[in-house]
Amino acid sequence: MRSHYCGALSTTHIDETVTLCGWVDRRRDHGGVIFLDLRDRQGIVQVVFDPDTEEHFERADRVRSEYVLRVTGRVRARGAGTVNPAMATGEIEVLGKELEILNQAATPPFQLDEYTNVGEDVRLQYRYMDLRRQQMQERLILRSKITTAVRNFLDGEGFLDIETPILTRATPQGARDYLVPSRTHPGQFFALPQSPQLFKQLLMVSGFDRYYQIAKCFRDEDLRADRQPEFTQIDIETAFLEEQDIMSITERLVRELFSAVLDVELPEFPRMAYAEAMERFGSDKPDLRIPLELVSVDDLMQQVEFKVFRGPADDPAGRVAALKVTGGATISRKEIDTYTDYVAIYGARGLAWIKVNDVDAGVEGLQSPILKFMPEEIVASMMQRLGAANGDIIFFGADRADIVNEALGALRIKVAEDLGLVSAGWAPLWVVDFPMFEADGDGGLTPLHHPFTAPSCSVEELVAAPAAALSRAYDMVLNGTELGGGSIRIHRAEMQQAVFEVLGIDETEAREKFGFLLDALQYGAPPHGGLAFGLDRLVMLMTGASSIRDVIAFPKTQTAACLMTEAPSDVGAAQLRELNLRLRQVREGQDKAQ
Ligand code: AMO
Ligand code: AMP
Repeated sequence: MRSHYCGALSTTHIDETVTLCGWVDRRRDHGGVIFLDLRDRQGIVQVVFDPDTEEHFERADRVRSEYVLRVTGRVRARGAGTVNPAMATGEIEVLGKELEILNQAATPPFQLDEYTNVGEDVRLQYRYMDLRRQQMQERLILRSKITTAVRNFLDGEGFLDIETPILTRATPQGARDYLVPSRTHPGQFFALPQSPQLFKQLLMVSGFDRYYQIAKCFRDEDLRADRQPEFTQIDIETAFLEEQDIMSITERLVRELFSAVLDVELPEFPRMAYAEAMERFGSDKPDLRIPLELVSVDDLMQQVEFKVFRGPADDPAGRVAALKVTGGATISRKEIDTYTDYVAIYGARGLAWIKVNDVDAGVEGLQSPILKFMPEEIVASMMQRLGAANGDIIFFGADRADIVNEALGALRIKVAEDLGLVSAGWAPLWVVDFPMFEADGDGGLTPLHHPFTAPSCSVEELVAAPAAALSRAYDMVLNGTELGGGSIRIHRAEMQQAVFEVLGIDETEAREKFGFLLDALQYGAPPHGGLAFGLDRLVMLMTGASSIRDVIAFPKTQTAACLMTEAPSDVGAAQLRELNLRLRQVREGQDKAQ
């Protein structure tokens, strides 16, 4: 139907007759001449109809925003005064000869160029309209370029694209499962995969060596700006490669993507142990663009009377840490109160602070609600350790180590954003040497990655001191976002059983849930390992979008619903009967997340 895309026209097409198809972005009537901005996925071009083309002019007069048109006309240079430098096609226009209205459009629910004032709910309800906006078109086009580049790269490295099932058994990845009732097996359910983890391991047992898949994953978890219940992984698994090889391939993949798609050469990927990341940044996905760091002062605080600090300093599971903000003394009391409320979200019970007015004047030069609780020499040692200078503010967290890390880790980012301390550019890193397990809050242990991750110690060492064991896992972090994570896997049944035991999964339960895996490990499983990237997060970072929803064509809301199709939805009695399901009495409205 068309000869060219609207947005692809340029001065090289002058005097050519072209046929365009697209949507009316804007229609203006200028003293008997009609200007139509016609839009398609490549951009916008101005089409002019004058009364000479009678019938077509009349039609042009009738069109409204978002009508679908087919226009034939001649490309011509715009007059000197009418060139529009803000428009990619601003040097030319099309003198319309023929106009066919392919379809009319009702008045759009929102103006596509003024969407910023439109609530996200309306955008999601009319997503097909929202996606017509240039920004959304560009993001989805970039997403497609990224997946194409991923496929090309992995294909070039000998990876095979193999699909794995969506109707399957639970694969534990730390979230709740989405379940699908089986009609043919009354009372039984499939789980949608939280990741293809077990299948990709089984493909290694089958000898496929290098696998990848751009795979849908499903996790019923609390949603945030960078999480969706249904999301996409670039899922990778290899056999006979060590962690160094896997990290090298996946790092090259990301480098190649940034170079091919954004023309950006990423800097070195430093490697940092989990323990160091937590110590210095309070996070296992530190944003290295931010120059602020946490500094432990437990040893000093063991020498003060102030209970709030002394308690956690004496407690092996506690931590007292300081966060020095260079030039932060300008932060007002009111702002400090706001930060105190902010860290409370992470469980912090307060936010002590010291402002440094004159560092040479000793405690006289400091301003703080906690100085009265501390001997002068302790304060002096602390100032020295922190390298405090005039104009700084120092914040303190004292609590269980995990609370201090989360609270000060989050504060570090918030303050840096507020004060404009986040430098531009890209700061990737690898986080390595993760612990195998963390406390689950009920006195037990839970895997930090997943239970198929290999420890870096022997079975005996693992069983003797599970809490101290490190894993062969690695995470790729970019600008404070966990882009991907992976590990070398357990490939021997004894080790897998030992890990299940540590996790409190007894033999019967292990057989019941993972019998197929334990069996497969008996039949010549090769050493293997891999990684999965969060594709949506990657695209979000590469497009500069602030929400993962902005890089997914049809995303779900924060309450895991689709406003356009109104899913999830009720099902009829007949369908429930067929599935052998009966709904428990639910209060009106309670069955839907509001
Ligand atoms: P993991 O659970 O770390 O590992 O997931 C890998 C990556 O997937 C992305 N991701 C998400 N993106 C959007 N919404 C979500 N709800 C969501 N959850 C995770 C993140 C994360 O880094 N099978 C293992 C990988 C492996 O060991 O090979 C796995 O799924 O970017
Ligand atoms: P208080 O003696 O409770 O008034 O606390 C004195 C100062 O210490 C206040 O600035 C509190 O915000 C701060 N504070 C209280 N508890 C903590 C804590 N757990 N971590 C850091 N600062 C705290």
